[in-house]
Amino acid sequence: MKLLTPVRLEGKIISFVPTMGALHQGHISLVERARSESEVVVCSIFVNPTQFNNPDDLKNYPRNNAKDLVMLEKAGVDLVFLPTVEEMYPEGEQSETYDFGLLDKVMEGAHRPGHFAGVATIVAKLFEIVRPRKAYFGEKDFQQLAVIRELVRQKQLPIEIIGCATIREESGLAMSSRNVRLTAQERREADNISKALMMVSREWKNHTVDEMVAKAIKMIEKNGMMKVEYLEIADENSLQPVKSWDKADRLRCLTAVQLGKVRLIDNVPLN
Ligand code: PAJ
Repeated sequence: MKLLTPVRLEGKIISFVPTMGALHQGHISLVERARSESEVVVCSIFVNPTQFNNPDDLKNYPRNNAKDLVMLEKAGVDLVFLPTVEEMYPEGEQSETYDFGLLDKVMEGAHRPGHFAGVATIVAKLFEIVRPRKAYFGEKDFQQLAVIRELVRQKQLPIEIIGCATIREESGLAMSSRNVRLTAQERREADNISKALMMVSREWKNHTVDEMVAKAIKMIEKNGMMKVEYLEIADENSLQPVKSWDKADRLRCLTAVQLGKVRLIDNVPLN
């Protein structure tokens, strides 16, 4: 990216926030963190076709570049990269092949075939173009954050990956670009996802893992509107599910839920 050459020559710290647009306060929190920790903030907006395993999800993914650009300017972004599909995939929409061990075999990886290969492919391409010193990712997509850390480790890229806490609506619902696709009733119903996760983070010490998982799933599915795709207690580093509390270091409860036409994910740490 030629525009960044003078900045690089001056030795300024370039930070990078990759997004798929339809921005909300969750994205902006990453930009603000980047702004406070670097001299030049670059943001990308690109709805990456190779990470969508469901064609309808890609077709219906919200897009609003004009509004996004206003939000990014307000948040103090210096440069926005808005490539086309042809620019990012001149040889066709194809993912690279990666071996992330067991990291991408569970949860999102197990339920969305090819998703993380698509994410890693586009993030690697974007890193190569922007060449940032730091890159910011949300814990909202906790498994994605782990996969990106592993990608950087495997490719030995000189990029610091910074994970940022999930930003929520007042009701507890994790902010997501897909939330705009929910009806008013579904949006109220979706609050039960974070309520169940918060319940797990409060009560886990008094129950077995199996009891806790069953209780959380029951809470999410109680009104018959939501279907849990997975809900797991996993080790934060390996992301492998745990059967009991004693072995693992830090734990997280992670879930994916189908609500009407929309698939939502969320997770919380167990402290
Ligand atoms: P997107 O879903 O647009 O998210 C862009 C970044 O914002 C990700 O790092 C995501 O974890 C973070 N984010 C989303 N919602 C958040 C919330 N409520 N609180 C905090 N951070 C949040 O994730 C992607 O795009 C793509 O997979 C991408 C990395 C850009 C590759 O295509």
